[in-house]
Amino acid sequence: MRTILVTGGAGFIGSNFVLEWFSKADHAAVNLDRLTYAGNIQNLESVADDPRHVFVQGDIGDGALVAELLRRHRPQAIVHFAAESHVDRSILGPEDFVATNVTGTFRLLEAARGYWSDLSGSERESFRFLHVSTDEVYGSLGPHDAPFTESSPYAPNSPYAASKAASDHLARAYYHTYGLPVLTTNCSNNYGPYQFPEKLIPLMCLNALDGKPLPVYGDGANVRDWLYVGDHCEAIRAVLAHGRPGETYNIGGDSEKTNLEVVHTLCGILDELRPRPDSGKRAALITFVKDRPGHDRRYAIDAAKIRKELGWRPRMSFEEGLRHTVQWYLDNGPWLQAVQTGAYRQWIDQQYESARQAGGARP
Ligand code: NAD
Ligand code: DAU
Repeated sequence: MRTILVTGGAGFIGSNFVLEWFSKADHAAVNLDRLTYAGNIQNLESVADDPRHVFVQGDIGDGALVAELLRRHRPQAIVHFAAESHVDRSILGPEDFVATNVTGTFRLLEAARGYWSDLSGSERESFRFLHVSTDEVYGSLGPHDAPFTESSPYAPNSPYAASKAASDHLARAYYHTYGLPVLTTNCSNNYGPYQFPEKLIPLMCLNALDGKPLPVYGDGANVRDWLYVGDHCEAIRAVLAHGRPGETYNIGGDSEKTNLEVVHTLCGILDELRPRPDSGKRAALITFVKDRPGHDRRYAIDAAKIRKELGWRPRMSFEEGLRHTVQWYLDNGPWLQAVQTGAYRQWIDQQYESARQAGGARP
């Protein structure tokens, strides 16, 4: 049985990946996660007693810890999810983003290089470092621009996107300079179970259930390309198994929606699955608030490369995936309650108080 090292495996995408990994393969996974506000050990409850899962609470920037984990478990791959991931938080406090996304990724690459350099034979041949990244590194598209390809120039606009772009460049350099077999994936917006309710879809779901305003930034016409998290995890497994070292792969849902479209669809699903006692429509809660500074207008992914080379394509339509996701949040009230700690409420007050002061109009 071979082992992989996953970083950030208690977060949204990482925990979906770890759970699916055990359901699809008989390999072990060492899961290194610092358990920041976004990391949640509850996501991994169903594999808590699985002997294939080794959870380690720690920082990717702790070179000695990572080197020790690599020496002890001898993984065949590192799948690197760990990051500070929320754009709005990067605007209010960029420092953690540089510390984890840039310096942390650098330290992880260094530890991986040291480990890989000492491997030989098939262990060295088959080792992979998969760096999970984002489409935000490419900047913003106009309404008629072609979607991002792997050769689109980098033009990050938020501190989050800039920190991810820096980590992509480091990953690339470790392949070109040292030959470390690095693969990079750049994916569009994910949604699905276990997403922390600071991001658009779970935040709107939670607020709508509580009868609170649904804060749409600006005019609500910004476009994102939505991908169900399970489809992203499948793409990562395909790249890990068959991707070419040194290459980057764009991953997207071929599902461009304005934010207003997303919120209206979500409200419709909630009205149907959990009607309000007064039969009122939740879309009436939509409130336009102050725009995000530097808000990218549109993202869209051209996923032709991964489709042609690896045969991957998204399986879940947006409507089906969103319905499934809303049902998951309805069925997992205790999970939602547990993540709304004092720290969560503090974030919501801080982020949305200033937005409310500047906006507040209803459609
Ligand atoms: P998330 O914020 O839900 O989870 C991040 C995880 O990383 C958390 O469990 C956290 O505890 C852990 N972590 C943070 N700093 C750490 C550190 N220094 N050491 C160890 N662990 C640390 O993020 P997510 O949405 O699951 O995103 C995962 C990855 O995928 C990120 O690299 C992100 O840039 C990328 N990505 C996300 C999306 C999306 O739509 N969410 C899309 C494309 C790419
Ligand atoms: O594109 C991939 C990226 O998608 C990932 O790299 C990031 O980690 C992930 O957070 C996500 O970034 P976005 O900024 O696109 O996601 P978010 O859910 O924060 O916002 C989606 C859109 O909704 C964006 O246009 C801003 C808008 N929005 C968001 C929130 C939280 C609102 O209008 N109101 C809100 O309250």
